[in-house]
Parts: sequence; structure tokens; C-alpha cells
Amino acid sequence: MKVLITGGSGLLGQYLNIFLSKENDIFTIFNKHIGNCQEYKSAQLDIRDYEGLRKVFKSFNAELVLHTAAISDTIINSTVSAKDVYDINVKSTESIANLCKEFNAKMIYTSTDLVYAGYRGSYLKEDAKLIPVSLYAETKLMGELKIQQIFDNYIILRTALLFGFGLNHSTCHFQFLFEQLSKNIPVKVFIDQFRSPISLLEAARLIGELIKKDIKKEVINFGGPERISRYELVERLCDIKGFNKNLLVKIKLDDLPQLPKVEDVSLNIDKMKSFGLEPKSLNEMIKEVLRKT
Ligand SMILES: NC(=O)c1ccc[n+]([C@@H]2O[C@H](COP(=O)([O-])OP(=O)(O)OC[C@H]3O[C@@H](n4cnc5c(N)ncnc54)[C@H](OP(=O)(O)O)[C@@H]3O)[C@@H](O)[C@H]2O)c1
Repeated sequence: MKVLITGGSGLLGQYLNIFLSKENDIFTIFNKHIGNCQEYKSAQLDIRDYEGLRKVFKSFNAELVLHTAAISDTIINSTVSAKDVYDINVKSTESIANLCKEFNAKMIYTSTDLVYAGYRGSYLKEDAKLIPVSLYAETKLMGELKIQQIFDNYIILRTALLFGFGLNHSTCHFQFLFEQLSKNIPVKVFIDQFRSPISLLEAARLIGELIKKDIKKEVINFGGPERISRYELVERLCDIKGFNKNLLVKIKLDDLPQLPKVEDVSLNIDKMKSFGLEPKSLNEMIKEVLRKT
């Protein structure tokens, strides 16, 4: 299958390049960081550039577009304005959906578990109440709505917390904790935020399975099988890797009021499993991630 990947230089995108290129003809788009995109057919493109996008659609003629490019920070920093976040996460998603419609390609969009109302937990189903509490989550939800307004040939993956090791510049909190604990440095971890983490390896593997399936017009929770707090996740890492658990400092969401407060967006993944997408257990995922380091 001809697969166009946006965000190919991101945390997830780097793994998608590797997994999807095994059985598919991929074209992968990066913006500022080339990473392993240089090993594949690729282009440097700001997805706000509609004409640039159109050229790629026209020349590559993808059957499937996996749209992962986004501003994924939950807190706006000095380098990215709210307008940038809107333009990239909403307007560009809308452009990509329009181009998919025009060029007859299916679109898979990586949305987020953070679109749900985090105070309601737990094991939320796809029809649970949506109350995004950060600009990031709000714009990801707006991206979902734009796609749904434009056409039916889509799959929206409400993706859970991703963990593992970044292959280029992009890293995640799990990697930060791993590096600190490796050096015997204490780390602060939330005891009152619950997610359904899935490893980058497992997410990329399952997306590789998903693209073979004849599914469309679906919103699917996409995460691991276990509801777990951030603290318990790191405890699990300590158990498996033999890190000193005394280095873990328990904190609560209220201790960091500047962060968007998300208590429990753990996912019910029955629908994902009903499509034959069966994630490994959390322990298996952690062990696999550690084996690959
Ligand atoms: N990480 C998680 O835990 C998580 C959880 C749920 C959902 N998601 C979703 O999964 C997707 C991937 O997340 P991630 O963690 O891999 O993100 P990431 O590491 O922050 O990567 C973001 C990607 O988007 C690209 N990008 C940003 N602005 C762009 C622009 N103007 N034009 C073209 N490309 C642009 C970046 O390119 P450059 O780096 O080359 O600039 C990078 O490839 C996102 O859609 C995110 O919303 C992530």
C-alpha cells in the first residue's frame, strides 16, 4: 500500500517509518528534524503550506494518509503561539482531510485520550463526555470534527499516553524518568493521574495491522490494556529494571497547578480489540521497550 505519513520525524512517526516501510511503500514528511526520514522517500514540509501538501499528494498518490504531525505539547511555550497550534492542529488537519477526499485516500488521524473529560474516569468508552482542558487537546478534538465534516473515509485513533524511547530529538516523560533513575536521581511522579499507556513499539505495530483492515468512519480508543497511574507505571519500570523505588517522590496534580488537570482518561479498548487489535500486556510492553534500548 502507498502510505503517506505526516509527523514522520516525531516520537511516534519515527517508529511508524520503520514498521510501515516493512510492508508498504511509504513517503514520510518532516518539518525541522529529519531523523530517520532520510532513510525513506521523504520531504521537508510545513503542513501549513497547502500548495506544498497538494504537490506531495499529487506526486505520491497515497492510498492511505497517516496524519500524526501536530504541536503535541500540552503547555504553550515561548516558541509556539496559540495561533500556531490552531493552524497546525486544526487548519492543516482540515487541509489534509480535504486533500484525502480529493485524491481518494483514507485518512488515519492520531487524536488523543486528552479529549475526554478527565474528572469522570475511568475506562472511558468512545461515547464518553468530551471536555479537553488544554489548547492541545481542544485543537486535537477540533481536528477530529473537521475530518468528520469533510468525509467518511477516516479512522480517528484516540491515542493513549505513549511511552518508550525516542529515536531522534523527540522524547517522552517515561524516557526522562528512565534516564534520571539510571543515574540514581529522585523523580517526582503523579499518583493521581490515570492513563492506559501503550508503548511506541506496540502502537506502531498495531497501526501496521490496522491499515490492512477494511474499516472506515470509526473513532477508536487506542491504548494499552491497563488503567494505571503515572506513579504505578514508574513503579512497574523499577520492578522490571531493578531501579531503586525510594527514588520515586509521590506528587499530586494540585502540586503543579500550572499543568492542565487530567485525572483519569484511562480507556476502554473493547472496540479496538473488536477490530482484532490486541495490545500486549503492560509488563510485556515495558520489557520489550527495555530490550530494544
Ligand atoms: N506522545 C503521546 O503520548 C501522544 C499521546 C496521544 C496522542 N498523541 C498524538 O500522536 C501524534 C504523534 O505524537 P508525537 O508524540 O509523536 O509528537 P511529536 O514527537 O511532538 O512530533 C510531532 C511531529 O509533528 C511534526 N510537525 C509539527 N509541526 C509541524 C508543521 N508545521 N509541519 C509539519 N510537521 C510538523 C514534527 O516535525 P519536526 O519534529 O520535524 O518539526 C514531528 O514530526 C500527535 O498527533 C499527537 O497528538 C501523542
